[in-house]
Amino acid sequence: MKRFDKHIFICENKRTDEHPKGCCYNKGAAEFKEHLKKRLKELGLSSIIRANTSGCLDACEFGPVMVIYPEQTWYGVKSLSDVEEIIESDIMNNRIVNRLTIKDKRYNRD
Ligand code: FES
Repeated sequence: MKRFDKHIFICENKRTDEHPKGCCYNKGAAEFKEHLKKRLKELGLSSIIRANTSGCLDACEFGPVMVIYPEQTWYGVKSLSDVEEIIESDIMNNRIVNRLTIKDKRYNRD
């Protein structure tokens, strides 16, 4: 029996402004994660959909990065409306939001 239907990891890694890779934290990741957690609670999904902060997921250039398991769908999220679209489409209806997936075969291989 599985504990969660989906498990979402959002990178909140923080680096200095001078770091060449940049970081998800400085691109709004914390706000996106808080919004996601709030919405999961409002929708009554927080017992079956888990959202956690992660460290660097090694996809910094696409960040803020979110990956959803068990499907392993990798997203680059740029706004709160992107978060909403992922909730409504992927999380609630199992439909990948293609326009937001990371377009790199290292992440989304199928
Ligand atoms: S800092 Fe977020 S993926 Fe590396």
